[in-house]
Amino acid sequence: MALFPTYVKREMVPAKGEGNVLIDEQGKRYLDFTSGLGVCNLGHCHPRVTAALTEQASCLWHVSNLFPIPIQQRVAERLTQATGMGAAFFCNSGAEANEAAIKLVRKAAQEKRGITNPEILTFKGSFHGRTLATLTATGQEKVKTGFSPLPAGFVTIAPEMEAVREATHEQTAAVMLELVQGEGGVCPIDPTFLQELVLFCHERGLLLVVDEIQTGMGRTGTLFAAQQYGLHPDVMTVAKGLGNGLPVGAMLARAELKEHFGVGSHGTTFGGNPLVMAAANAVLEELEQESLLGQVREMGEYLCSLLQERIGEHPAVTQIRGMGLMIGIQLLQEAGPIITSCEKEGLLVLPAGPNVIRLLPPLLVTKEEVKVAVTTLAHVLTRQMSTPQVG
Ligand SMILES: Cc1ncc(COP(=O)(O)O)c(C=O)c1O
Repeated sequence: MALFPTYVKREMVPAKGEGNVLIDEQGKRYLDFTSGLGVCNLGHCHPRVTAALTEQASCLWHVSNLFPIPIQQRVAERLTQATGMGAAFFCNSGAEANEAAIKLVRKAAQEKRGITNPEILTFKGSFHGRTLATLTATGQEKVKTGFSPLPAGFVTIAPEMEAVREATHEQTAAVMLELVQGEGGVCPIDPTFLQELVLFCHERGLLLVVDEIQTGMGRTGTLFAAQQYGLHPDVMTVAKGLGNGLPVGAMLARAELKEHFGVGSHGTTFGGNPLVMAAANAVLEELEQESLLGQVREMGEYLCSLLQERIGEHPAVTQIRGMGLMIGIQLLQEAGPIITSCEKEGLLVLPAGPNVIRLLPPLLVTKEEVKVAVTTLAHVLTRQMSTPQVG
């Protein structure tokens, strides 16, 4: 295979996507509880997004950011109105959105507070991307191995106030965090810690950057998870579900920070082009329906309670946790073999670290599909336990 072996490839070869189902080359159907790593939140080939894309594709794909792009303006307005933010910068991925956030908070710290070597605090277990800056920000050693020298200006600490207070000094510019650590095992933040952290940031003039790349776009039952915590961050990053499969990310910031990203301070060739913006606009139109987000909350609760009922007492399961339709099943054993067996049974699920099965079904998942998925998981787990281990 003429590819870098950066991924262990699965067996099934997806050939077609239909809503909440993926179909392989042999025509076998799989219930997709991965949504492509939390991307196709509206399911595969969603009619509204497909129609918007098809129309845009026959009209204009790309112009550079040197020209006004009305659809980009519209998406920026939709996102800023929904979040109370003042401005958006569009890019192509989550890591790029976080890069933009890092650049913005560094520049703001220098220009506003005279900080010459700004430092950003991040948390153990977090994941912020694979570029050099974002992997340095990430609180997981495995993504950093072999990539020294890493850029300066990041300190990773435990998510505890004592650690935050200890790590903060006059060069500290910002705190960056996920509200539910996704890649780190689907771990929701402690609301008391978050409350204290917000107050602390306010007192010390630190900017709060919330990475909503995995939690955003309806995944947790509100458009952004921050809304459920009553949180108004200074900077918010979005990607994954924003384009429902088209590569697009966004960095949103409060109006006061707009001046720090002036002409020439940041840029992108592809970011926010008409084609991806047509997809993002259609996605946002769809998610603006409150009934859809209500359905996410309802299905999330149903999925969690059914999991609890069917596998909560299973000896291999230690915890079922999450928010909305972002759910983690903590196991005492490796998640890999369970995930492979589920795939054979027609259910696609994800890992989040070595011992966690992560469920990220499409937001339009039905009760019937939830029942099928939980039954498959329960069946696979029971069979795995009763199969004698070799070696
Ligand atoms: C919370 C979070 N931040 C950033 C990223 C990086 O996004 P991308 O892979 O689009 O660069 C991810 C990807 O999984 C993520 O979950």
